[in-house]
Amino acid sequence: MAAHILSGNAIALKLTERVKENVEDFKAVHGIAPGLTVVIVGEDPASKVYVGRKHKACLDTGINSEVIRLPETTAEEELLATIDRLNADAAVHGILVQLPVPRHINAEKVLERIRPDKDVDGFHPMNVGNLCVGKEHLVPCTPYGIIKMLELEGIAIEGKRAVIIGRSNIVGKPMAMLLLARNATVTVCHSRTKDLAEVCRQGDILVAAIGKPEFVTRDMVKPGATVIDVGINRVGDKLVGDVNFGDVAEIAGHITPVPGGVGPLTIAMLLHNTLKAAEIQRM
Ligand code: GUN
Repeated sequence: MAAHILSGNAIALKLTERVKENVEDFKAVHGIAPGLTVVIVGEDPASKVYVGRKHKACLDTGINSEVIRLPETTAEEELLATIDRLNADAAVHGILVQLPVPRHINAEKVLERIRPDKDVDGFHPMNVGNLCVGKEHLVPCTPYGIIKMLELEGIAIEGKRAVIIGRSNIVGKPMAMLLLARNATVTVCHSRTKDLAEVCRQGDILVAAIGKPEFVTRDMVKPGATVIDVGINRVGDKLVGDVNFGDVAEIAGHITPVPGGVGPLTIAMLLHNTLKAAEIQRM
């Protein structure tokens, strides 16, 4: 039987509507709108598209949005000075530096410079640590959106086996923490994992976040599993995920498409986090 397709677009719309209502309430109470500033360094075409979407989503939701575009040649010190200025600006509740940054800039140093209560990506070590000890304050947007989708779709997590392919700080690791906190039994796979297909086949929930086009094939999927595809890969003029959709959809129970799956959820949760950051700062 063909898998049920999880529409990230529809779920993101629902989540965004909620944020929009809460933004209205926030404005009524505090007399100001939540504000997000996104900083992009350089000309990475995919990053430019993502940043444009984030900016538009903010404006559609009643959140103030500013995009600071810095040239590829920007010195690390200059980027850090920009962050210092935003950290001190009371109208800026959320700061996001789009990754990747150019190679001459130390991304770790940049992420650590952002005030933890303005860190809407949830990448600051303090927020990472909070997540690891079970305090979900500002949680990385992509894995958080995936959890919201599973919850809204009534897909059980507790007691299930979850297998994550990819151990990045942006998706794989926080995804593991969120699933673990909801009582899944979690395995994180990576490039050195032995017998990868066999490990993946144990997953009731399989999350693919490795950045390899159509890497996951049906022999890696347990029949009836929920398959979440985080990948966005450009192949020629086509966008494909990390999952071979046509192949896997024949065996999975639920599957996310690319595009229109996880991507819109990431943006919805960024809006959620920006409002949350504003609320934390106004408490
Ligand atoms: N690049 C790819 N995904 C992300 C994300 O979630 N946040 C930031 N800041 N950069 C990214």
